[in-house]
Amino acid sequence: MRLFFALWPDAAAAEALERLAADVVVVAGGKPMPREKIHLTLAFLGEVDDLAAAQDAAAALETRPFQVRLDCVGSFRRARVSWAGMIQADPALTDLQARLESQLRARGFALEERPFAPHVTLARKAERALPRAKIAAIAWTATELTLVRSAPGTGGYPILKAWRLGR
Ligand code: 2AM
Repeated sequence: MRLFFALWPDAAAAEALERLAADVVVVAGGKPMPREKIHLTLAFLGEVDDLAAAQDAAAALETRPFQVRLDCVGSFRRARVSWAGMIQADPALTDLQARLESQLRARGFALEERPFAPHVTLARKAERALPRAKIAAIAWTATELTLVRSAPGTGGYPILKAWRLGR
């Protein structure tokens, strides 16, 4: 199973991000992400056999709810992804991500060495770079950390397990 940990926007933020995805596609081309797939990845685990270890990593975290605030758009040109992100990464988010990553590494997960670049993918297969630009902020309160399956074929992102932040 290909797994990742993610945060999901609330309904209003997901709707705003879906509208933003439609705007972004006008500028950069590509395929907009449907509302139900819009998320922010904290850690990509790749192929995982040991589901229990991944769950233990999340359960070991001390957490609290925090606000996710996206205030810019841009793109990863090589990956042909257009995204919404943060002009300045929020410490509450980067702190949670760093602690999750360290719990996962301690359990033997080989994660990417690239530094965490918090973003929400808005469109894939972009045809052009999306100039980095400030946007009217889209924000929500993150209340759950989720372990998600990247299901090939169906292209869906079923949530396998959720942990309430601040439990
Ligand atoms: P992306 O949206 O920028 O592609 C499921 O694929 C999620 O894991 C996506 O949010 C994806 O980010 C993220 N992810 C991070 N690293 C990945 C990798 N090496 N392969 C596939 N997805 C990755």
